[in-house]
Amino acid sequence: MYRAQRLGLKYLAASTVIFGAMIIFGLLASIYYVRPGFLLNTFNFSTAKIVHINGLVIWLLMGFIGAIYWFLPQEFEREVVGIGLAEVLFWVLCASVAVVIAVFIFVQYGAANEWSMWFINQGRKYVEAPRWAAIVISVTAGVFAYNVIATCVAARKATGVVTVLIADLVPLVVLYLDAFPEISNMSQDLFWWWWLVHLWVEATWEVLIGCIMAWTLMHLVGASRRVVESWLYVEVALVLGTGILGLGHHYFWIGTPRYWFAIGGFFSALEPLPLLGMIVHAVYDAGERHLQAANRPAFYWTLAEAFGNFLGGGVWGFMMTLPQINLYSHGTQWTASHGHFAFWGAYGCGVISVLYLAIAQSRGNQRLDGAAWKWSFAMLNVGMVGMTGALLVAGIDQAFYERAIGGSTWNAYLSMQGRPWFNESMWARLLFGLMFACGFAVLAYDLITIPKRQQADAVEEATAAAGS
Ligand code: HEM
Ligand code: HEM
Ligand SMILES: [Fe+2]
Repeated sequence: MYRAQRLGLKYLAASTVIFGAMIIFGLLASIYYVRPGFLLNTFNFSTAKIVHINGLVIWLLMGFIGAIYWFLPQEFEREVVGIGLAEVLFWVLCASVAVVIAVFIFVQYGAANEWSMWFINQGRKYVEAPRWAAIVISVTAGVFAYNVIATCVAARKATGVVTVLIADLVPLVVLYLDAFPEISNMSQDLFWWWWLVHLWVEATWEVLIGCIMAWTLMHLVGASRRVVESWLYVEVALVLGTGILGLGHHYFWIGTPRYWFAIGGFFSALEPLPLLGMIVHAVYDAGERHLQAANRPAFYWTLAEAFGNFLGGGVWGFMMTLPQINLYSHGTQWTASHGHFAFWGAYGCGVISVLYLAIAQSRGNQRLDGAAWKWSFAMLNVGMVGMTGALLVAGIDQAFYERAIGGSTWNAYLSMQGRPWFNESMWARLLFGLMFACGFAVLAYDLITIPKRQQADAVEEATAAAGS
């Protein structure tokens, strides 16, 4: 195994730990909705949410980096250039994440001055890390991009997947610089902040997961490189063609010129197309192999990714992307429903499929099976669909009663809080969240015990062979 692959496994393991931590804070955050006085003045909702969604971003970023360190040396059949530096930065990043989470939990907030920006929180939703930690993240991402590019140069060949990957890493790393806020005008500030949040999840991350899934399909079901790469080009062209101007669906109500209604509405309405293409692609490759793969868990998570991306991102996003609808749905639980389903479908499921693929490959491609992965697959997905369904009911209730009928007044907002549909949905979200958390526990158990179970299987087989 290459050193880069060992580093990839470490990244994947660390990302899974952060996944577990973000679930705990998601559960905490959902308790305030049913018990508003929960932990009053000790640990606020906003802090729980900050840890939850920043954990989300770091979990997935580390998962992507791990996946690429896993596949890259196999693609070039050589060690990754600059791997020593990457190994050091891995530990620096882990230590930084631990310190930032501790500061979020124990310090929470500070005065409105530069010191707080440097050491507590930069205040940009999803990328709230204090300035020093944001610098660590930028450096790690920069070195990672260097690793990929330098390895490609040293190998003197570029495959289609790696070319797309390199073209994508540059904007991905540059857009993160948006996490450092400089503007005091709120409209302008939001205008640029969306360049990070929207362009990451609906353009650069989509391309990145496209590359990772392309490799996964080749390794998992032996999909042909020619077919996979052709699909990748089509998907990338569509993602960039719709996603870049689709940015306009966040410019409806923040004080930007009126032409964004037309541009944002039109281009973002086309955004489901590439996601539909990804399903056709995955199902095509799966069908070629008659839905058979030695590594069933990785295979099922790959299909979950394709469908989850389309449903959570494409369909749930489409529902509220036209300005005529967004006028009522904007910023309700409907948005949270889409945010959960899309991140889970597009990125969470993809990272889990790579986890299973890498674990099997690292152990000589032994067959992975058993009951645990099926339970975790079911509980995680049913839990997530349940949460999203509950949030959708709550969000539609808000859109109708608080926005359309109530006229978005403060009074309408307050009376909304007492509506049974809203409150019952908040309970349902908590219960399905608990199911999701149990699914994660089984997933962790399965991943940790795979090596032990395989050893036991090998001993059993050897004894049986000796006895016969
Ligand atoms: C046990 C599981 C989970 C629970 C109970 C949970 C709960 C919550 C809660 C209560 C919020 C705050 C919503 C608000 O501001 O009103 C939130 C935000 C968020 N969560 Fe989760 N979450 C869970 C898992 C996840 C997972 C697995 C993902 C992604 C894969 C995720 C992605 C998000 C996102 C993107 C937001 C921000 C949404 C927004 O502000 O519009 N969560 N979550
Ligand atoms: C898989 C990719 C996607 C992810 C991970 C994602 C995630 C998110 C998240 C987390 C938010 C909430 C942002 C916030 O206010 O904090 C959001 C908002 C939004 N997304 Fe997506 N999204 C994806 C794809 C799409 C697509 C394809 C569309 C349209 C077809 C779309 C339409 C929207 C709209 C209109 C909003 C604004 C909702 C509002 O007004 O409150 N999204 N998305
Ligand atoms: Fe967007």
